[in-house]
Parts: sequence; structure tokens; C-alpha cells
Amino acid sequence: MPELLVASTTPVDPRIRAEGQQLAVTLGVAFVEAPLGAADPAARKAWLAAITPRPAVVVFHDGEAWTLLDAGKPESEPVRAGVARTNPVGRSSPLGRALGVHKRVADGLTVLDATGGLGRDALTMSRWGCHVTLIERSAVMALLLADAHRRDPSSIPAVIHAEATAVIAALPDGARPDVIYLDPMHPPRRKAAEVKHDLAVLGKLLGDQRHDVSAEQRLWEVACECARHRVVVKRPPHAPPLGAAPAHSVNSTRVRFDVYLT
Ligand SMILES: C[S@@+](CC[C@H](N)C(=O)[O-])C[C@H]1O[C@@H](n2cnc3c(N)ncnc32)[C@H](O)[C@@H]1O
Repeated sequence: MPELLVASTTPVDPRIRAEGQQLAVTLGVAFVEAPLGAADPAARKAWLAAITPRPAVVVFHDGEAWTLLDAGKPESEPVRAGVARTNPVGRSSPLGRALGVHKRVADGLTVLDATGGLGRDALTMSRWGCHVTLIERSAVMALLLADAHRRDPSSIPAVIHAEATAVIAALPDGARPDVIYLDPMHPPRRKAAEVKHDLAVLGKLLGDQRHDVSAEQRLWEVACECARHRVVVKRPPHAPPLGAAPAHSVNSTRVRFDVYLT
């Protein structure tokens, strides 16, 4: 775990303080209260620049939401979970085609998103009418997702904070989802500048877990045993498949979706 700090603006809601303190204890890092006005970009930049030693990432409550701050770039925007992409995608997008919802209404399709992250794919699928179950193993990302659900319960599914492989392996037959969706951390790209700001902060936060290929393959295996209809795996365009060769793939310039029919 890279060095991390949990902070919230002052004056702080007692519930937010309790959440921050609990997270700090879980992670074994410090909890601090940022100075009054730290939600303002200029004040936040000055505050971050003065923290010594400077952590890689700050989990920061800005008065409205739990966010991630890249402490190495004090001027950068806080990253929130559960925020839709700037260009909303329709059901005929590569993700919609990979899920199989491009030719039919998605209402009632049960999708288990096993790698919640910032919850954007879950938000997209939920807006298409899928019933999404969300799992996330990182305590920090689970807190951001739970916070996003609290603010917008009709769009962001409640999050199960757990290791997805164990949850999926233990699902009773009656609870098997139609689709299991996997988007594990991508292998690092050669051109760091290509990595978007939010994914770059996520990468700093989650560090080494990006490289645990055997754990990802185990997750893919249990997903294929469990899903009623298909497993969809999001991959970088030129990365090898996570498991066996897929039944088919849906390609776009930035990403590839490998589809396994189960
Ligand atoms: C690339 S992000 C997912 C981004 C997400 N699709 C979105 O739209 O924001 C990968 C996330 O999966 C989580 N993760 C990876 N393996 C996991 C596992 N076995 N169980 C639960 N969460 C996992 C990581 O902690 C990380 O937050």
C-alpha cells in the first residue's frame, strides 16, 4: 500500500469524521482534518504542498463526497466515484454489445460487476436498466462507492466490500447472475501520459495489485463457472486475454471487451 493520508474538511460532520477515522485505522495511516476552506482548489493546493512527508494519495472528504487526491499534483481535480463519463454511452456502444443488450431492452438483466473501481461502468449498466451487483475489495474504493450510493441510490448500486473471487465461488445456484463483468487493473501502459487522471490516481492508490495476473485468472475462472450466460472482460486493446481465447471480442480504439459464453 503506497503512503496514504485520510483527511476531511473542517468543520466536519461527525459521521464523516467517524468514517475517515475508521478507514485510517483499517489502513494504518493518519487521519487529519484539513484547514477550513480546503475544498477550494487554491487553498487545497497550498495545504497539500505543505504536507510533509507528502503521501502519494490523499483520501479526502471535500464537504460533499469522499474523493481521491493525487498529492504529487496538488493542482489536480479530486476524483469521485459514481460520476458518469463526460460522453455518455448508449446500449449500442462496445460495452452494450459485449453485454448483449444492444438489440434488446436491458431491463431485468442481472449483472455482477466484480471490480467496482470508480463505479462508472456500473452506473452505465444500471442506467440501461440492468440490475447491477457491485463488489470492490479495496477499502478506500468501497468507501467512495458506498458514499456515491448514499448520494444517488437509484443509479449507483450498493457496494459489497469483499474479494470478488470468494463471493462468486460461494454464490448459491439461485443467486447466479446472468452476466459477470470484470475490469481488473490494466497492465501499465508504456506512455504514462496516455493514462487518464482518474485511472492514474487509482493506479497510485492500488499499486502492486495491478500485476497479480494469477489472482485475476482465478477470478475469471470462478466467474466462468458461475455466470448463467456470459462473462465480459475489459482489456487494453493489445493485451492478451485474461483467460482462454474468448468466444468473440468487441473492439474500440481504447479498449477491448472479451466475451465468454458460459
Ligand atoms: C480498473 S478498476 C475498475 C473500474 C470500473 N470498471 C469503473 O468503471 O470505474 C479495477 C477495480 O477492481 C478492483 N478489484 C480488482 N480485483 C478485484 C477482486 N478480485 N475483487 C474485488 N475487487 C477487485 C480494484 O480494487 C479496482 O478498484
